[in-house]
Amino acid sequence: MSEGGKNNSPSGIGLNRRKFLKGMGTGLIGTATLSKGLLGEETEEKTPVASAKSRDITMATVTMTINGKRYSVEVEPRTTLLHVIREKLGLTGAKKVCGRGECGACTVILNGRTVYSCMTLAVEAHGAKITTIEGLAKSDKLHPVQEAFINHDAYQCGFCTPGFEVVLKDLLDKNPRPTLEEIKKGLSGNLCRCGAYPHVVDVALELAGRKGGM
Ligand code: FES
Ligand code: FES
Repeated sequence: MSEGGKNNSPSGIGLNRRKFLKGMGTGLIGTATLSKGLLGEETEEKTPVASAKSRDITMATVTMTINGKRYSVEVEPRTTLLHVIREKLGLTGAKKVCGRGECGACTVILNGRTVYSCMTLAVEAHGAKITTIEGLAKSDKLHPVQEAFINHDAYQCGFCTPGFEVVLKDLLDKNPRPTLEEIKKGLSGNLCRCGAYPHVVDVALELAGRKGGM
């Protein structure tokens, strides 16, 4: 661009920057006007607009027992169990990391089965018995799995740790002496971005009475 903002374009139009921007502005307004003129009224009539009534959401009351305590909460049908646990009940041990069933950081035990709470609707948990990471320790005494995680330094950032500990507790409750293969399979639904896997496996081997591998 030359002095004075003139454009040296080969077209010779001599469009300067200010004119160009003004033109763009006019173009945008023009487009908006055109859209409204051509589409405005008709579009508004033809597009179904959710009425206040249709936007009303039917809430559901969900009752569940978490770590031995009974809770009753109002939820939308789309609300996840993880959301209820963390945001409504303040049990923030289960973590929302991926939020789509890939990492296992949100794992809880629901009616004796480990589940990804981010992939479980709260309404599905109605009447359920749930154990979260907060339910492992008894008053001031950590669960043996939690003690072993500390002793083996089995975490770095710790985001995956609640999920791993819940899964390992469940695994050992059901199979107190799992083999290395069973341990690997049991932990396969949980991811650790920090790469603490060898230490987590050491925890499992020790608790299974198989320290040193097999
Ligand atoms: S947060 Fe639920 S699986 Fe990752
Ligand atoms: S310790 Fe950081 S993700 Fe596992």
